[in-house]
Amino acid sequence: MCGIIGFTGHKEAQDILLDGLAKLEYRGYDSAGIAFFKDNGGHISIRKTAGKVNDLRAICDDDNTSTCGIGHTRWATHGGVTNANAHPHKVGKVTLIHNGIIENYHELIEKYNLSDSLVSETDTEVAAALFNKMFDGDPIATIKKTVPLFKGSFAFCIMFKENPGKVFAVRNVSPMVATNTDAGSFVASDLTAFINFSKRYFIVPEYTILTMEEDKISLQDLEGNNVEPEYLEVNWDISAAEKEGYPHYMIKEIHEQPRAITRTISPRIKDSLPNFEDDNIPDSFFENCSDITVIACGTAMYAGNVGKTFIQNALGVPVNVAIASEFRYERPVLNENSMVIVVSQSGETIDTLEALRLAKKYTNKTLAVVNVKGSTIARESNYVLYTHAGPEIAVASTKAYTVQVASMYLLGCKLGLVTNKLSVEKAKEFMNNLKKVPDMIKAVLTQEDKVAELTKRMTNSTNAFFIGRGLDYTLSMEGALKLKEISYIHAEAYAAGELKHGTIALISEGVPVIAIATQDHVYSKVISNIREVKARGAYVILLSKDEKITDKTVCDVHINIPPVADEFTIFESVIILQMIAYYTSTGRGVNPDQPRNLAKSVTVE
Ligand code: AGP
Repeated sequence: MCGIIGFTGHKEAQDILLDGLAKLEYRGYDSAGIAFFKDNGGHISIRKTAGKVNDLRAICDDDNTSTCGIGHTRWATHGGVTNANAHPHKVGKVTLIHNGIIENYHELIEKYNLSDSLVSETDTEVAAALFNKMFDGDPIATIKKTVPLFKGSFAFCIMFKENPGKVFAVRNVSPMVATNTDAGSFVASDLTAFINFSKRYFIVPEYTILTMEEDKISLQDLEGNNVEPEYLEVNWDISAAEKEGYPHYMIKEIHEQPRAITRTISPRIKDSLPNFEDDNIPDSFFENCSDITVIACGTAMYAGNVGKTFIQNALGVPVNVAIASEFRYERPVLNENSMVIVVSQSGETIDTLEALRLAKKYTNKTLAVVNVKGSTIARESNYVLYTHAGPEIAVASTKAYTVQVASMYLLGCKLGLVTNKLSVEKAKEFMNNLKKVPDMIKAVLTQEDKVAELTKRMTNSTNAFFIGRGLDYTLSMEGALKLKEISYIHAEAYAAGELKHGTIALISEGVPVIAIATQDHVYSKVISNIREVKARGAYVILLSKDEKITDKTVCDVHINIPPVADEFTIFESVIILQMIAYYTSTGRGVNPDQPRNLAKSVTVE
């Protein structure tokens, strides 16, 4: 998704903007640009280009002393990847950048006769043209009367030619944070853009006009009321948002998982039992619950699927898992006693946010499992269980997945205890196993070199299958997604027992099959399924608790998963799958941190 940044203060803006955009690259983009008040006078200059931030740096002026400007990384929604479509867009006296989608931009062009002002294909330029058309000399008044005309999501940073040194901003749905520091004032899509200057920030409230000046920030709602910013502070520092010597954020974050899980579960396990007192989640949340629905997208949804399987097996309680973008447009089968758990790393995924808003029309039992403090989904849920994974920069979720699964286990055990569907002894057994997960992961990480070696066999593949049963099947969905999104190999997850009902027709000589067989009660069944694909020429990589398997009629490569209770092997196996995806990606010359077409937080529908 697009990244935005604005700055005005006592320092030269150009490098602040360019460095900030570099920090926002992980959001996914295809072009970049900045605009600034030239010589701090009323003239606004723009530098923009299709390509990367480094391509933008190459066209910027070395002697630019401006102290006020805005910057943008564009993830194309309307119009191709061209210099003309890159932001910022300037129309008359208005220059702006935008993250979001103006859904009624065609109507606005017709209604306000804007077409003569337009040179690009973007909805954003239409917004600039409308602000310019409505401009009456007063930026605040202009914003107040223009913003209600837009339908859709937006995070605008706006500069008005006649107001040098000032940046204005306003949002609806799309994320925006801001802060005031000794260096000046910042506004951005997320904190990482200005973490070098401050760990304190506030969420810009929706439909509230932010005015940034050199030494102060002011907020005013559309009715003209002043609004006080509610500052937050993150508990991680700049190093958490940097690679720290790793070649990519993704492999760094894979290795961060032991620490991420420790930070997430430790505050929630007291006397070996789940405890949410510090999260202000009362036991009453788990009482009188008629049904449970987990709603999420992508990896977060797959983590929810693991939670479903764990809770159903441990408690005998049915759990529905809904794809957020589907849930929104089907009839929700909810009532006032329904429990709805939304899972989201970013807390800004629009499909998940809108699904939450729909669910809240039926029930107040909504709880968000979110990694970003103060994010929209966190703020709009009735309860929130923050994961403490630290910033996840790589587009491909890794540590977010494992802390989400751990959170689902905590919630499932608490639910079981409150509803007497889980004994205290069994809950303590689960919690004691959960506390061992960080060390289990550390043990599996020692197999990194072996995994890197075996993936060399994968790099020329065009297809791959991930198969398993039970929890291993739910995990295979995540494994397939990881491989697809960063290596571009078409991968499919399949219930091992289902292959022979059609899909096995796709198995031919050398097709990679990553098989996961850690669940004792179905182990022999999975081995039989593996033999079926092996007999048809598949190249099988098998993950199991066996010490060693050399029988080539079963697998070509065996990876030992250190024996633990079946509910917890998933935390070990997923590390292997993450590394298979990572090393296959790098082996194919792909940058796993910024895979094509993808964005870190999908804030458009
Ligand atoms: C997974 O690797 C992707 N990054 C993507 O599927 C992601 O999990 C999904 O878009 C949901 O994002 P969220 O957790 O921030 O809501």
